[in-house]
Amino acid sequence: MTETTTAHHAADRAIATSVPVADFISERWSPRAFDAQASISDSQLDAGLEAARLAPSTSNTQPWRFIVGRCGGATFERILAHLIPFNQAWAAHASALIVNAAVTEVDGTSQPTALYDLGLAVQSLALQLHVDGFASHQISGIDGPGIDAEFALPEGVHAITVTVIGTVGNPAQLDERLAAREIAPRERLPLTTLVIARD
Ligand SMILES: Cc1cc2nc3c(=O)[nH]c(=O)nc-3n(C[C@H](O)[C@H](O)[C@H](O)COP(=O)(O)O)c2cc1C
Repeated sequence: MTETTTAHHAADRAIATSVPVADFISERWSPRAFDAQASISDSQLDAGLEAARLAPSTSNTQPWRFIVGRCGGATFERILAHLIPFNQAWAAHASALIVNAAVTEVDGTSQPTALYDLGLAVQSLALQLHVDGFASHQISGIDGPGIDAEFALPEGVHAITVTVIGTVGNPAQLDERLAAREIAPRERLPLTTLVIARD
């Protein structure tokens, strides 16, 4: 088998760090090749959702809401229909799709940190799923207002992203360009760029 026909496991995708960090941080990555034969159970999804529930938030407001669709179910199809075509093509093979919605307004008052809080919760979900052997991929290439309408989200609650969840599949199932990205080294800006001031 060549490199592009082998499913890539998390340890192969670990990113280089300047000092050691926990494996589950460096090895989490965002595949697009998902194994269409794989599945995820309700309790496995619950572990991710529980991890999200435990995230910190402004004044403990917990301004995150989720719509959970498992492959084969109607909710999965309703979410999938509202992804941009580029994302739809590969996300269709996932085991679950979760809409991440934020409570951005309460009683007419905007909640400026709602998206920040939602992001913390979703990262907790992603890391828990990773530790449990699943991969996830965040996407903002969605029709957010379309999802809001599809699921009749209440006033002030808006779909922000979708988390695509599953088991890593074979890069060869993607087109050549995406298959190459699947095995390209993962990169980040150096700390010297990110840290503006420091003692
Ligand atoms: C908010 C957000 C939106 C994203 N939207 C998309 C998307 O629409 N389509 C896609 O293929 N990847 C999307 N990504 C995935 C990023 O491209 C990916 O996380 C980044 O390249 C780093 O890759 P890694 O997670 O494997 O380290 C998104 C990620 C985030 C956090």
